[in-house]
Amino acid sequence: MVWALALILSLTSMVEESSESEKSYYKREKWCNKLFIEDRFFSYTLKELRLLTLILAESALETIPKNLWRHPAVKRYSKKHRKPPQLIVLDRSYHHAAMRTLSESDKRGRPDIVHFVLLEALGSPLNKERLLQVYVHTLNNHVISVKPETRLPRNYSRFVGLMEQLFKLGRAPPNGKALLKLESKTLSQLLSEINPTYVVGFSTAGAPYTIEEVTSRLSNEEKPVVIIGGFPHGHFSAVTLQLVDKLVHIDSEMLEASTVTSRVIYEYECAISLPMKRLKR
Ligand SMILES: C[S@@+](CC[C@H](N)C(=O)[O-])C[C@H]1O[C@@H](n2cnc3c(N)ncnc32)[C@H](O)[C@@H]1O
Repeated sequence: MVWALALILSLTSMVEESSESEKSYYKREKWCNKLFIEDRFFSYTLKELRLLTLILAESALETIPKNLWRHPAVKRYSKKHRKPPQLIVLDRSYHHAAMRTLSESDKRGRPDIVHFVLLEALGSPLNKERLLQVYVHTLNNHVISVKPETRLPRNYSRFVGLMEQLFKLGRAPPNGKALLKLESKTLSQLLSEINPTYVVGFSTAGAPYTIEEVTSRLSNEEKPVVIIGGFPHGHFSAVTLQLVDKLVHIDSEMLEASTVTSRVIYEYECAISLPMKRLKR
């Protein structure tokens, strides 16, 4: 009898204990939810307007340099396309033979890198929200400012045609609002105009960080800038390296510039809670 009473008492206390812990569980969950909501609130207010600037630097985009104009391969190409060499974009796929004598040849003649990166960047939700500003800086110190509403041709030949028009006229389209503007400008001049609070350079020669770590830091900055190389081989010049606050590598292998671009943009979107915000519309 005493034994049965003890059992009933202990069961009652267990029930009380569990309802107590249940209560504290719900209390904790409510508290977490509050934090969660506050955190979201924080994301939407303070972080909402932080524009990410992406610079594709030292990009392999230029017109055929003067010392190659008389090369037989260039002359043939120029005749076939009925365009003077100074108005043709250098492309390793067609001008490989002529490029052998060119200085820093490995870093040049790859407009396709710029094409892929721009398609990735301009099609991103971050860009659709007007929270991304893209610049293409070239090896010869030209800077192309890209308006977020620009719709680039997906066809490569048409993209190259557009770049040739840009080098000729300094803007595209030729009339009306300029969506692409090309100016003679160094990376240093561009950065002085932007006046960033933090500049991250991406390179296999950088320190190891996960992309989440990098974008989380960027999302807390007032004017964050990321610099990705727009060239196929080699590394950033000493001049570029001096302009970055942090040089990072995000993978043990070398990746395509367009792959790095899409990862940076997506993780930055997550860091500012953009996917959730867009789904809630
Ligand atoms: C094809 S890579 C250029 C090659 C260059 N040798 C390098 O290792 O960075 C084009 C650009 O993508 C970025 N990149 C490629 N792999 C990377 C990595 N593992 N970590 C960080 N950035 C990378 C860099 O900005 C690089 O300039």
